[in-house]
Amino acid sequence: MSSSSTETGFDLRGLVESRRDETMDLLKDNINPKLAKVFRTIGFDRVYPRGEGAYLWDREDNKYLDCLTGYGMFNIGRNHPVLKQAVRDYLEMDDAWKIQMAPMTLPGLLAEKLLQKIPHLQKVHFTNSGTECVEAALKFARCETDRPRVLHASRSFHGLTYGALSLNGCESFREGFAPFMPGSAKIPFGDLAALEEALDTSPTAALILEPIQGKGVYEADPAYLLGAQELCRSHGTRLIVDEVQTGMGRTGKLFAYQHVEGFEPDIVLIAKSLSGGYVPIGAVIMRDEIYEGVFSTLDRCVVHSSTFGQGGLAMACGLATFHVMETEGWIENAADKGEKLIGGLRALVDEFELLKEIRGKGMMIGIEFGEPTSFSLKTGWKLIHKADGGLFPQAIIMPLLNQHRVLTQVAGHHVDIIKLLPTLTWSDEDVSWFLGAFTDVLKKVHKFPGPLWSTAKDLAKAAVTSRR
Ligand SMILES: Cc1ncc(COP(=O)(O)O)c(C=O)c1O
Repeated sequence: MSSSSTETGFDLRGLVESRRDETMDLLKDNINPKLAKVFRTIGFDRVYPRGEGAYLWDREDNKYLDCLTGYGMFNIGRNHPVLKQAVRDYLEMDDAWKIQMAPMTLPGLLAEKLLQKIPHLQKVHFTNSGTECVEAALKFARCETDRPRVLHASRSFHGLTYGALSLNGCESFREGFAPFMPGSAKIPFGDLAALEEALDTSPTAALILEPIQGKGVYEADPAYLLGAQELCRSHGTRLIVDEVQTGMGRTGKLFAYQHVEGFEPDIVLIAKSLSGGYVPIGAVIMRDEIYEGVFSTLDRCVVHSSTFGQGGLAMACGLATFHVMETEGWIENAADKGEKLIGGLRALVDEFELLKEIRGKGMMIGIEFGEPTSFSLKTGWKLIHKADGGLFPQAIIMPLLNQHRVLTQVAGHHVDIIKLLPTLTWSDEDVSWFLGAFTDVLKKVHKFPGPLWSTAKDLAKAAVTSRR
């Protein structure tokens, strides 16, 4: 039976609305004062009470184009009506979820669906996040192979818990947290000879790779993926493909590994958009032999699990997300709009000397800037980079938001790269919105001295002061 907030005495909407003005203070005082300061400094301190599809609305009801989508968790768009109805239905069902010592229908259904989509694998283990998928995959590969060593690539990102952080190719995330998991070793991304040497050096449980690296948006060459598969197979090493960011249609196929014919990784990791962005979720999909090697006897049947894994609401949202994917054509749309976006951006490279390279596939796009050749721009570039290696892209994302209502992100620490992870639901008008906004910002940043360079200089001063 549903009841209204007047009946229950708990008025969620009223509570949130009555405290909306205090949003920044609540963050600053209770959660993360440094983040609050960053938001204020770069003008990202606006509050968005509403989101729908590819858009956000601020308190004055201005509409924004979201190219960040909560780090890629809203592939089908925010607050999709099918998802909302599934959540309502689930709540109305009064489901006896998480009995733990009883079989449950919803997880079985979502696992069945995942295995239909990844037909070369046979078992699914559910988690509550991307990083938890990585932890599980690590344990499974080490346990099944009885080897401790795990390889990861330079620039890789697989999450921030200890196992995943041990496989993180970016030093900035690791600083202050050593020592890491024994047996973790880094190899250069895309280098088959280095991989072969590493595998020959000592027995290795697993290699973990992102088909397109999130930090900087670097795509693995298909020949590298197939070569890595062959090397792993010949060395008895499990190949884990992390599709946490690239999965669920983002690159124009359901999973990015599926762009490469004949590529069949041993373990596939999915999270983020699997639940449409509604509920924490993750899934580790693996070969039967791996499952058998870990959950090997009756008394080991729950040797790896977590209380909230297979949560009913998450499972319901996963099934609803697949329904949307199968009926609304968003994967094909991602391929189409991604091509238009990438094409439009590449056309700007010759015109604007600060623009170096456009990379990506579907709706996962990296825009890299580089040192210009003309004297005045070069001066500005050098000054900003001397003050702080990570500031230049801020001077791009700030006017994109403040002048064009386009929300974007920088693609990593100390890189001159912006990343786009939009919803898969963009229209041609959205593509034009972004390209128009970006071109305008590019024009402005090619004027030195100019307001964007002054902003960058102010940021540089703020960064230097905060380090003191
Ligand atoms: C490729 C990849 N793997 C793992 C993770 C970690 O996922 P989560 O943030 O859900 O722990 C991320 C997060 O951005 C990711 O991009």
